Amino acid sequence: MRECFELRDVDAGGRIGELTVPRADVTVETPALLPVINPNLDTISPRRLAEEFGAEILITNSYIIHGTEDVREQALEEGLHDMLDFPGAIMTDSGSFQLSEYGDIDVTTEEILEFQREIGSDIGTPVDIPTPPDVSRERAAEELETTQERLEVAEGVDTGDMLVSAPVQGSTYPDLREEAGRHADATDLDVFPVGAVVPLMNDYRYDDMVDVVAASKRGLGADAPVHLFGAGHPMMFALGVAMGCDLFDSAAYALYARDDRYLTVRGTRQLEDLDYFPCSCPVCAEHSPDDLLALSDREREEELAAHNLHVTFEEIRRIKQAIRAGNLLELVEQRARAHPAMLDGYRALLDHAAQLESSDPVSKGSFFYTSHESARRPEVLRHHERLERLAVPDSLFLTEGEPARGDEFEASWRVEPPFGPFPRALSKSYPLTAEVPERTDRAALEAAAEGVARLVAANPETEVTLGHRGWPADVLEAVPEDVDLVDLTVEGD
Ligand code: GUN
Repeated sequence: MRECFELRDVDAGGRIGELTVPRADVTVETPALLPVINPNLDTISPRRLAEEFGAEILITNSYIIHGTEDVREQALEEGLHDMLDFPGAIMTDSGSFQLSEYGDIDVTTEEILEFQREIGSDIGTPVDIPTPPDVSRERAAEELETTQERLEVAEGVDTGDMLVSAPVQGSTYPDLREEAGRHADATDLDVFPVGAVVPLMNDYRYDDMVDVVAASKRGLGADAPVHLFGAGHPMMFALGVAMGCDLFDSAAYALYARDDRYLTVRGTRQLEDLDYFPCSCPVCAEHSPDDLLALSDREREEELAAHNLHVTFEEIRRIKQAIRAGNLLELVEQRARAHPAMLDGYRALLDHAAQLESSDPVSKGSFFYTSHESARRPEVLRHHERLERLAVPDSLFLTEGEPARGDEFEASWRVEPPFGPFPRALSKSYPLTAEVPERTDRAALEAAAEGVARLVAANPETEVTLGHRGWPADVLEAVPEDVDLVDLTVEGD
């Protein structure tokens, strides 16, 4: 059992957890957002982050502090907490991102970890190698080996009660990411960032990002706190959380503000393109877009950064509530509608439905079928797998909707899109209580037909009759040939 992290609630791959940070003497509730603080320029002060926005943890860069003489001296003298004036937990990055941007840095893992401890960091980071996407396999494997050696070096450094992160690299090779996750998990390090995903997000490759996280998670244990390094746009938090990420860091709130960009959960808007603010945060409640445009550059940047943080923290709260209510995937579906690339991300997530199914609770509040992608949700997959284990009579009547003719149908099972067959006695149990639109779509019918096929395959001796309501011929082709078909719209209506 990993002592610093406890899970409190789970939905799909998402979880509410508690990360105990001993050096700061605080517990951080996850999913959590770590605003990025650049020690040389602060748009919103760390004290304000804590008091106005409720930030429990932030992240800053020890490499920048190390390389800026006056800041380094101040950090060594006062400690990070006093220097930044922040009462929560402080994580420090190592300069690896600078390494990926500029090709070279002049500190080792030992030096930077010792420095991080000396300046009072609560969670330190070794110098991992952020291998970009799509590089050759040789390069990805070689750089991963270097990262892994550095994690082993980190294990040997005296870091006191500072937690230490173990970044997971491996570029876009799922097997390398999985291996990296397994190796990192086996170290005695504490927090597990999935690294080098910034280029994927910059290119809107949310599907590849999902595959990278899924592979890393297969290697990491379920009790490992996972950070998605450099992911700060609130549009993708629900997707990231549903894949099992617990920590996010955002420089976006400040960087975007500098360029007059306004964050929303449906994407980024340019301030001058807005006539109205679709938000009720204090900034948007008190100003119109024209008001902000009339401010000085510095004031406008600060107001926009504050708005960007408000929507970002609001989305984290919304996600936590969705996990509590058991409707995180409904939220992911909504976010998937904001941008085609997000929809690709959601569809990629559903490719990993079996992986998510293993953590998804067997019973939750509700299942709302809100898009044809819902037919591929882990709950549907689980029902299909369960069909192979249910006791089945010798002769089985499956009917869609209310029984249409005779007692024999009344005593039978039901068949409902998207789940397929189930005994009537289970009608009131999750997820068969799902709310599904009356106007059923193909994906739901296909999933139901697949359920029938699974049931028949598991019970080859059973005689099955399927009473459906006008399923198209090509959907019915997925139903095994020896199933007797009755169209209830023809027979019963
Ligand atoms: N920030 C964004 N991506 C990365 C990464 O892969 N490693 C480190 N250390 N920091 C990052």
